[in-house]
Amino acid sequence: MRIDIISVLPELMESPFQTSILKRAMEKGLAEVHFHNIRDWSTNKHRKVDDEPYGGGAGMIMTIEPLDLCISELKSQRDYDDIIYLTPEGETLNQRIANTLSIKKNLIFLCGHYKGVDQRVRDLHITKEISIGDYVLTGGELAACVLADSVIRLLPGVLNDEQSALTDSFQDNLLSPPIYTRPETYKGLSVPKILLSGNTSAIEDWLHDEAVRVTKERRPDLLE
Ligand code: ADE
Repeated sequence: MRIDIISVLPELMESPFQTSILKRAMEKGLAEVHFHNIRDWSTNKHRKVDDEPYGGGAGMIMTIEPLDLCISELKSQRDYDDIIYLTPEGETLNQRIANTLSIKKNLIFLCGHYKGVDQRVRDLHITKEISIGDYVLTGGELAACVLADSVIRLLPGVLNDEQSALTDSFQDNLLSPPIYTRPETYKGLSVPKILLSGNTSAIEDWLHDEAVRVTKERRPDLLE
């Protein structure tokens, strides 16, 4: 999978991809992430990429030309499955969306800044709009990292068996059950006996029942 991320602040997104599991995914060639600074496509001598809104109002808007030039150049180099704009107005990210995107080959993520992008960029190029939650960030960069992480970890070979994505919260619309590791007892707090029983089918039943209990308690909407 190849992800091209377009932003005014690419440096904000470097470290997540240079660390731990995502870094290994890049090194193994399972994912490629390329950053593009929109200012490189500005035709303005000050590398300006924003302007005041028509109709007035607070905040600046990202102008169409550098974004169109950048996206058109990328599109001329390869076919993209989706061109995604990260915005609070988008569909809220969930595991189903991450699963769907994880089988795509080439994706563009466009990070908004200031008040957002000129509507005509959306009309012209954007095929999907995604929000990472009902709150407003200073820009789409952190949201792009969240989206990329949720997708890249699902690519075959990125996680090893022990980290398998198949047992994640949400993968079957259930939250994770409680989990324990050594020691068996700490300050009088013990691990549930069933987990020490060696009875794998009883353990599986218990884990499933606990997942249902936790989900009912915290996120009953997932069971509807
Ligand atoms: N940009 C600003 N806030 C955002 C959010 N919640 N999700 C995606 N992109 C954003």
